[in-house]
Amino acid sequence: MTNVDIDAKIPNNVDLAGDRRLQRALEQWQPKFIRWWEDLGPAAFKHNPVYLRTAVDVGREGWAHFDHVEMPEYRWGVFLAEPEPDRKIAFGDHKGQDVWQEVPGEYRSDLRRLIVVQGDTEPASVEQQRHLSLTAPSLYDMRNLFQVNVEEGRHLWAMVYLLHRYFGRDGRDEADEMLERHSGDPDNPRILGAFNEETPDWLSFYMFTYFTDRDGKYQLASLRESAFDPLSRTCDFMLKEEAHHMFVGATGVGRVVERTIELMREHDSEDVHPHGGMNLDLLQKYVNFHYSVSLDLFGAETSTNAANYFAAGLKGRFQEERRDDDHVLKSTTRLVPDVTDEGIVEKEVAELSALNETLRDDYIDDCQKGIDRWNRTMAKAGVDFEIKLPHVGFHRNVGTFRGHHVSPEGRLISDEDWYASVTNWLPTDAERAHVKSLMVGVTEPGKMAGWVAPPSTGIHQKPVDFEYVKL
Ligand SMILES: [Fe+2]
Ligand SMILES: [Fe+2]
Repeated sequence: MTNVDIDAKIPNNVDLAGDRRLQRALEQWQPKFIRWWEDLGPAAFKHNPVYLRTAVDVGREGWAHFDHVEMPEYRWGVFLAEPEPDRKIAFGDHKGQDVWQEVPGEYRSDLRRLIVVQGDTEPASVEQQRHLSLTAPSLYDMRNLFQVNVEEGRHLWAMVYLLHRYFGRDGRDEADEMLERHSGDPDNPRILGAFNEETPDWLSFYMFTYFTDRDGKYQLASLRESAFDPLSRTCDFMLKEEAHHMFVGATGVGRVVERTIELMREHDSEDVHPHGGMNLDLLQKYVNFHYSVSLDLFGAETSTNAANYFAAGLKGRFQEERRDDDHVLKSTTRLVPDVTDEGIVEKEVAELSALNETLRDDYIDDCQKGIDRWNRTMAKAGVDFEIKLPHVGFHRNVGTFRGHHVSPEGRLISDEDWYASVTNWLPTDAERAHVKSLMVGVTEPGKMAGWVAPPSTGIHQKPVDFEYVKL
């Protein structure tokens, strides 16, 4: 069992007190983090008490504490999941050997890179979402936004701990740079494209937490397989928190669907925009956008880096140990999409080289589940509309589809056809403006903005009309 030191300056279960140098280094990073939070964290309500969950342990019998907290006083801590005794490497060239408690020299720069890329997304999303509290559709939603934000902050802490603890001087420099890159900064942007776009409205926020946080889930789940045990244990615990972020997205979009159906009934019309709602085809366009940019985050279909990371044991597949194969993948192949003169075809490649595609496939299956739920809501209400995930080649900017136009149904089309139809597929400026026009902050407990239905239950057994944020 690991001991939790909850009263330390930096709450932790990694015995920071037993490593004075490390503790001092992290305590020097802490005020920089707080300054970053004050500057680029939530832009409004930042000093109001918010009913937040704080990680205080990692055990099965409860790991979180709920209470009203002013966010700058949130207890961001470092928590790793309990070690698994005698854990062995589950895949790659070192399969069957003991996992590593220190970083092997030959993998040092690759591991550092993986940690930095993951870590960079965490504060990026806080920056992207910083203006949303002003237009929260309810106190319940505002609280969920802040919950996601503080936990992304904790995920940054998780990665910064690894950098400080295991990567010496370069690790400390990387940790500082996490606070120097900023989402959308033309001179010093965040590392990944999708994390440099603003999250301009709450529909985008729900879509982001549904689709983009879910990319995070798959990246973390594959790093949880890592032979570098501290990384594995860190990611394992982050995934617990991440589940709530995707819940916010899945239920958020679900509530918009519900409200749209209500408005369609009330006004006997499919067009609910004049009545302060969001049309179903607009939701489809937002799905098309957020899904396609999130698919890009998995990288190119074939990748030598991904193959090397797997062979080295740094990054596995989703649920590696549940897979029924040799976990080395030296002699197997799989099909990946390819764009040729004949159109979109499949080509056979070494399975080891196609691990990005394998992870993307798992992600796609997972995305479909929420879509099915939203569609069931519509079917139950007798609404003849189905949200569909577009073809994997639609609106892509990374990999084989880059530079090609693909319709949502998966037809390779000309530039001309694309520009003639794109307004049917992606949100137009007018639609984005409509969504924006519906964004008004609602701060009376239990009240909801007119474009979204209330949630079916509150948070942590509190009622929906609980004062989640004290004003
Ligand atoms: Fe995160
Ligand atoms: Fe998240």
